[in-house]
Amino acid sequence: MGTSRKLLPVTIVVLTFLITPSYQATTQPDKPLMKAVVIHAYGGPEVLKLENVPRPEPKEDEILIRVVAASINPVDVAIRKGYLAELIGNKFPLILGMDAAGVVEKTGTKISKFKVGDLVYAFFTLTDEGGYAQYVVAKESEAATKPKEVTYAQAAAVPAAGSTAWQVLIETAKLSAGQTVLIHGGSGGVGHLAIQIAKALGAKVIATASTANQDFIKRMGADVAVDYTKTKFEEVAKDVDVVLDMVGGDTLKRSYGVVKKGGIIVSIVDEVDQKEVDARGIRGVEFRASPKASVLEDLTRLIDAKKITPIVLQTFPLSAVARAQEQISTRHTRGKIVFQVADEPKG
Ligand SMILES: NC(=O)c1ccc[n+]([C@@H]2O[C@H](COP(=O)([O-])OP(=O)(O)OC[C@H]3O[C@@H](n4cnc5c(N)ncnc54)[C@H](OP(=O)(O)O)[C@@H]3O)[C@@H](O)[C@H]2O)c1
Repeated sequence: MGTSRKLLPVTIVVLTFLITPSYQATTQPDKPLMKAVVIHAYGGPEVLKLENVPRPEPKEDEILIRVVAASINPVDVAIRKGYLAELIGNKFPLILGMDAAGVVEKTGTKISKFKVGDLVYAFFTLTDEGGYAQYVVAKESEAATKPKEVTYAQAAAVPAAGSTAWQVLIETAKLSAGQTVLIHGGSGGVGHLAIQIAKALGAKVIATASTANQDFIKRMGADVAVDYTKTKFEEVAKDVDVVLDMVGGDTLKRSYGVVKKGGIIVSIVDEVDQKEVDARGIRGVEFRASPKASVLEDLTRLIDAKKITPIVLQTFPLSAVARAQEQISTRHTRGKIVFQVADEPKG
């Protein structure tokens, strides 16, 4: 889910806006409608529109999820601004949202894993978002049983951020018990889950965050909390096995020197300097997460075993989408922020 730094030329954005057809909701009155946050063009927060749109129909290999909660990720803002237009194209109207938790409303004919009424959560692909809505479709390969021990809002906080942390630490870096990991950005959506996943594995965790989040990252399980506003992390972290970089720039540059020979740096936000890693005998990987049901199932197990607790700082209604995206754009959100799309089902 990393973001390209290339902007669409303004002329293309304007042209796209001009040629976007008016939305079909008005021309297909027989289709069931739902509320969703839709964009008809890339741009500023003013392109975010809460509209009545046709409810999606699951294809044979999809489930339709009635969304109870959906999370807000930094990439949503990048998509809205058009930074990922090369990947996504101009397929307007576009419903944003990389993940959601809810109840299976309908199943395609080829679905065998889920049935109507199942409680699920899902992580969508970058070319197929849709969580900012009352209903969304997902493939079986993108969904898993929702953890029972947490609310839908907490569950919705997990798919994109938790899968990223899992895929970096476990699948890419192969972090194991007794190893040391340095997590830059430990208090954010990915970071607070990464700390808990690493601790569940039995690793030693050094995490960085600002002054206000020092207690928070310790509560998440960090063995060593570094206040990056006061202390250079390289004075504290030395010879680590793994670095998870969620900051990039100067932080990434200064991180090469803290990794032991044979160790690995995984950046989810920036390009790794291949010369630098080769010279130091370490590995460097630029990573982009993708949906995998097996990862969600593993996360469900850890959450239900109370090894991971997703933290939701704040919930928003869909109507407050501009405010929610403003908050995630600060790059200083503690834990996750989530849309409460429907009331939490009882029981
Ligand atoms: N490649 C991928 O697949 C992928 C997947 C998910 C996310 N991402 C990217 O990874 C980044 C993090 O995602 P997120 O969802 O965790 O974002 P987030 O919830 O906005 O969290 C960002 C965190 O970064 C911390 N931070 C800011 N500046 C820092 C610095 N100089 N040093 C250390 N920490 C700093 C903030 O903590 P303080 O408030 O304490 O400063 C904040 O908690 C975003 O850029 C996102 O786009 C990429």
